[in-house]
Amino acid sequence: MFSARFGPGRRCEGLVTPRHRLFPPTILNLDMKEPSGHSTAIVRPARNVRGSATLPGDKSISHRYAMLAGIAEGPSRLANYSTGADCASTLTCLSTLGVQWERTDLADNLIEIQGSGLALKAPDRPLNCGNSGSTVRMLSGIVAGQNFSCEMLGDESLSRRPMERVIAPLRAMGASIQSANSRPPLRIQGGDLKAIDYRMPVASAQVKTCLLFAGLQAKGETRLLEPLRTRDHGEVALRAFGAQVGRERNEVRIEGGQRLQGIEARIPGDLSSAAFFLCAAALFPDSELTVVNLLMNPTRARLLDILIQMGLRISVTQLEESHGELIGTLQVQGRKLKGATICGADTAALIDEIPVLAAIAPYTEQGIEIRDAKELRVKESDRIASIAINLRAMGATVEEREDGLKIAGAQPLRGTELDSFGDHRIAMAFSIAALRAQGETLIRGSECAAISYPEFFSKLESLVER
Ligand code: S3P
Repeated sequence: MFSARFGPGRRCEGLVTPRHRLFPPTILNLDMKEPSGHSTAIVRPARNVRGSATLPGDKSISHRYAMLAGIAEGPSRLANYSTGADCASTLTCLSTLGVQWERTDLADNLIEIQGSGLALKAPDRPLNCGNSGSTVRMLSGIVAGQNFSCEMLGDESLSRRPMERVIAPLRAMGASIQSANSRPPLRIQGGDLKAIDYRMPVASAQVKTCLLFAGLQAKGETRLLEPLRTRDHGEVALRAFGAQVGRERNEVRIEGGQRLQGIEARIPGDLSSAAFFLCAAALFPDSELTVVNLLMNPTRARLLDILIQMGLRISVTQLEESHGELIGTLQVQGRKLKGATICGADTAALIDEIPVLAAIAPYTEQGIEIRDAKELRVKESDRIASIAINLRAMGATVEEREDGLKIAGAQPLRGTELDSFGDHRIAMAFSIAALRAQGETLIRGSECAAISYPEFFSKLESLVER
């Protein structure tokens, strides 16, 4: 079985063209004539989706558990840690801050972290956050409370992403932060912080978590008012490590000076990665898919409601709780797909799943309209533009707006050459659209799927029937 072996920067020896395939694969990740080392996925149409999937650990939870384990007292053991490059960036930064950790079981992705008890080491080199917005934003809340200066930087895409949303409140708490145009690299001089009452201008769980991490080290009680309720993994994780975090409606509170204790945990499967397979199953009326040990946190699971509204049959056969996070097993059956409108709080709740919903929109009966999604323009790529360009290349009519997209339903798509725009969720979303297209689809730069889900192409291959 072929698997996606060409991670970022890896190169296949020699020139491989479709004519030189070793066997008739259905989905390939080949390095075709790109001297740059980029990979191209070739995705052929499918007849059905059937099988069972267990997902690597949730990315949002993996980042938070690793960071909190790094500043807790005592050891933590985190099983099913995300296999994505983003969560590896968090571990790299923790090493640079003197935190000892080890991957002790490769098969179970078990990471053991020795907590520093909030006594991080002044780094002797920049903290390299790679492509990871979560790493730079959330970790900035930790280093802002530490008595040293450090530089946080990342790749080209990360260097374009807006950081004013963490810079302004961290400065108000007493940190000194320098940056050009409020984008990485950030130079942070940390130290004693004071609590703030802060009305967040942007609905962002990364910002909320950053400020809770800073608030944990500040003098007094930090109060954050969210414009819309965002994923609550930061609050849930802090409680799992022993802190008290208050919540009343959209306000979250944390008292500074609390100590954390290491934990032993198994990280639930990533719902945003499962979204690709759920949407693949939604494309075929006879599909049957089981997803085991999946994160079902209500602030993350809005996708399930939307897919049910659109016609997919989803039943939850097992539900349990671990460290405050809900985990379930899903049975999914395809049906004819209706359309949907996604706006307001739903847009914020579905922000990472919108690319794949938009990519399957032409196959729905009434199409999908997405509003209030300006944030998509400042993700790993300008996702509104990336989606519109790729759908049009596949032959769809798409209305692109400043804050969203309107994609008509009942439009057949044709396979063609697409760009991932270096954005993992775009590469994976269009691999799903390709399953119902006419002819082969080539996705250039497909290796970026490894940012969140390196095993994506091999897993997809195991679930599709032709
Ligand atoms: C995340 C929050 C979201 C999401 C990102 C992960 C998190 O970003 O898009 O992939 O783990 O808190 P924003 O906070 O920028 O909305």
